Amino acid sequence: MENKFQKNILCIGAGYVGGPTMAMIAYKCPQYKVTVVDINHERIKQWNSSELPVYEPGLDEVVRATRGKNLFFDIDIEKGIKESDIIFVGVNTPTKTFGAGAGMAADLQYWEKTARQIREAAESSKIVIEKCTLPVKTALAMERILTSKNSNISFEIISNPEFLAEGTAMNDLEFPDRVLIGSRETESGIKARNEIVEIYKNWVPKERIIESNIWSSELSKLVANAFLAQRISSINAVSALCEKTDANVKEVSRAIGFDSRLGAKFLNASVGFGGSCFKKDILNLVYLCKSYGLDEVADYWEGVVKINEYQKERFVLNMLSSMFNTLAGKKICLFGFAFKADTGDTRETPALYIAKRLIEERAELIITDPKALQNARIDLGGIDGIVYEEDPYKAVVGCDAIAVMTEWSLYNKLDYVVIYKSMTKPSFIFDGRNILDHNQLYKIGFNVFPIGRPPLTHY
Ligand code: UDX
Repeated sequence: MENKFQKNILCIGAGYVGGPTMAMIAYKCPQYKVTVVDINHERIKQWNSSELPVYEPGLDEVVRATRGKNLFFDIDIEKGIKESDIIFVGVNTPTKTFGAGAGMAADLQYWEKTARQIREAAESSKIVIEKCTLPVKTALAMERILTSKNSNISFEIISNPEFLAEGTAMNDLEFPDRVLIGSRETESGIKARNEIVEIYKNWVPKERIIESNIWSSELSKLVANAFLAQRISSINAVSALCEKTDANVKEVSRAIGFDSRLGAKFLNASVGFGGSCFKKDILNLVYLCKSYGLDEVADYWEGVVKINEYQKERFVLNMLSSMFNTLAGKKICLFGFAFKADTGDTRETPALYIAKRLIEERAELIITDPKALQNARIDLGGIDGIVYEEDPYKAVVGCDAIAVMTEWSLYNKLDYVVIYKSMTKPSFIFDGRNILDHNQLYKIGFNVFPIGRPPLTHY
């Protein structure tokens, strides 16, 4: 049995990163045995069932093709550690909510526990790979923990950050822009790095596998997300100016995106970015800069998050001033609650902030979303009186305003003549994603407030 596979790979952490990544490795490398373990037994049970705990297009097929053959989900972490030579660590590293660095630094307690667990259980040398986003120099701390037990077992730490985005994870894994693998630049470090390169070479073209020192790799992950978010904050900052100047932010995005040095992606102005990574990673970067006394650099990156907060608040204030300076008792329907389309994920969704602010203004909220209503209910759990309605046509009846929070394509296909008829007059639409046909809506009778374009109003 032991000789059947060329390599035994373990992943600790069966979450959003570990599960799909290991499924792809198992799929592309039938010669390796891949085991995924987690302290959460319920989650392992789900991975072994027909209802996977993570929804990603294409994931079911890949898991179905490999599970029980060379992909295994298990609860025995210790056994997994003993049996494998290569250990990926994909445990969660949320932002700290307590003590020094609260609200900014990453909470490393799960990572540290995992490192200790590996140290205690290991009976032979291992390569340990950081898969989750971690603050720079985490590898150093982990190295210290792993090597603190006097023995002749050695550990090499590799940084191999994940760049997958929700909704496209399987495609991102199968055809990555790049795979980044960082190690110590010692003889044993390079050897370990080569072993991981070998895994990815099974399906990723060699020129897309980037090797670097371990610190560059750790930092690149934070910087990649900071740059992506910075583009959104930049265009969102410009959107505020467009609304005042008769410019149209879509036209500006298009014009600048044609510059091959800039590129067209991530230039859609919106009510703000959300998701589990951007804010967390930028704040991590900010904390890192501050801890090295680089206050100007920290302020620069913090500006990206500040503009995002500003954009959300600006949206609410815009609603307030355009609806005659009071929202009290007005019925407002949020179109979408997910942080982006095609997911039910609501982590850091701008819709949550907007919903809470509208409630503060004493508006009555009706929330509709094709996939995220369950999470919306949890996120807004303590607040009474919010109506959750899957059918957008029912949701808008008697409403004064619609606010588009998520760019679900379905919102573009609705019959707005029917919707207009069922709403209170004057009727308003605030398009926080710029996905609707604004001129058409205006013709129907709506007062239309796009992002980054002067409003179209009948008064
Ligand atoms: C992101 C990174 O893209 C990915 O590489 C990293 O590994 C994890 O973080 P994700 O959070 O899944 O992925 O979502 P992404 O598609 O990047 O969108 C993030 C947020 O920005 C969403 O709220 C989205 O709606 C918003 N966004 C995106 C904009 O507002 N405008 C844009 O032009 C693009």
